[in-house]
Amino acid sequence: MTTEQTLREAATNRDFRIGAALAARALRSDPSYWKTAKNEFNAVTPENALKMGPLRPSPHAYDFTDADAIVDFGRKNDMYVRGHTLVWHNQKPEWFQAWDYTDDQLRKFLRDHVHTVVGRYRSSIDAWDVVNEAVADDGTLRETVWYDALGEEYLDLAFQWAREVDPEVDLYYNDYGADAVNEKSDAIYDLLERLLERGVPIDGVGLQFHALAGRPDPESVAENIRRFQDLGLDVQITEMDVANAVDDRPENPLAEQADYYREIVEVCLETGCDTLVTWGVHDASSWLRSFKDFSERYTGDPLLFDDACDPKPAYDAVTDALSGPDRS
Ligand code: XIL
Repeated sequence: MTTEQTLREAATNRDFRIGAALAARALRSDPSYWKTAKNEFNAVTPENALKMGPLRPSPHAYDFTDADAIVDFGRKNDMYVRGHTLVWHNQKPEWFQAWDYTDDQLRKFLRDHVHTVVGRYRSSIDAWDVVNEAVADDGTLRETVWYDALGEEYLDLAFQWAREVDPEVDLYYNDYGADAVNEKSDAIYDLLERLLERGVPIDGVGLQFHALAGRPDPESVAENIRRFQDLGLDVQITEMDVANAVDDRPENPLAEQADYYREIVEVCLETGCDTLVTWGVHDASSWLRSFKDFSERYTGDPLLFDDACDPKPAYDAVTDALSGPDRS
C-alpha cells in the first residue's frame, strides 16, 4: 500500500520526529540522498562528524567543516538536530593514543572539548548525546580512558560542563543493547538514578535500537521506556536499524522488517517517546555495509529506503503507523 502522505508529513502531523543519521560527503555528492533526507525526515543526527576523532585532527585544532554542513542542512530544512556524541570510548583522535597525559590534563582536555563543541552549536543543536555507551554488556561501568582517569564522576562532569555553556539544550545518555528490560538497561537505570540523585543535569536517555539479529520484545521495550520516563527522563530511539544475521533470514525479510518497524513506532506512540532516528538514509549508506566484519555477519538492508533511495515496505509501515488513529 502506498500512503498519500510522505513520511515527514505523517510524522510532523503527529508531532513526531522521524530522523536519519547523515554523512556530509553523501549530502554533497548524491542528489537523491540529499533529496530523500530533506523531504522524508524532520530530524537529523551527524553519523560521525561530531565525534571527537573527526573533530580533533590535532591536539589544538578543530575541524568543524562536516559537522557544520550537516547541522546547517538540518536547520535550513527546519529539522530537529541531535548532536552525537561528546564523550565516548570509540573514535577518539589518532594522536590521542600516543599522548602521555596526567589525569588532570585529561580532565582539562575533556572540559575544553565539551565547552567548545556545545558552545559552537548553542541554539542550533536541540539535544546532545553527552555520554555514549558508558555501561558494559555485563552492567558494570565500562573501563574507558575517561573512567580510568576520572571515575564515575566523568559522567557528572560532562553533563555539568555541557549545561554550563548551553542552558537550553537537552542532554542525553545514549547506549545500545538497552532497548528492552534486561541486565544492561537495569544497570543504566541505576546509573541514571544515581546521577539524578546527585543533581546532575540530565534530560533523557537514548535507546540506540540496533536490531541487527535479535528483536527486542515490543512489550518489554514499552515497559523500559515507561520506567525511564517515571524517573523524569525523556526517551528517544536514536540509531534504529533492523537487519538479520546472514545465516538466519526470515522467509520474507522485507515484510518482517516492516512489521517490526511498525510495532516499535506503535510503542513510541503509546508511550509518548516522540523521536525515532534511523541510522542512515538508505541501505547503501548503512554502517552495516562498511563496519569491521559486520558486512559478513548481518544483511546490509536495515533502513527505510533501498539502495536507489526508493521507499521499502518498512517505509510504508512507519508512515502508515504515524498516520493511524491517535491512541495515546
Ligand atoms: C558508527 C558509524 O555508523 C560508522 O560509520 C562508524 O564507522 C562507527 O560508528 N553506536 C553509536 C554510533 O553510537 O556512533 C555508531 O556509529 C554505531 C554504534
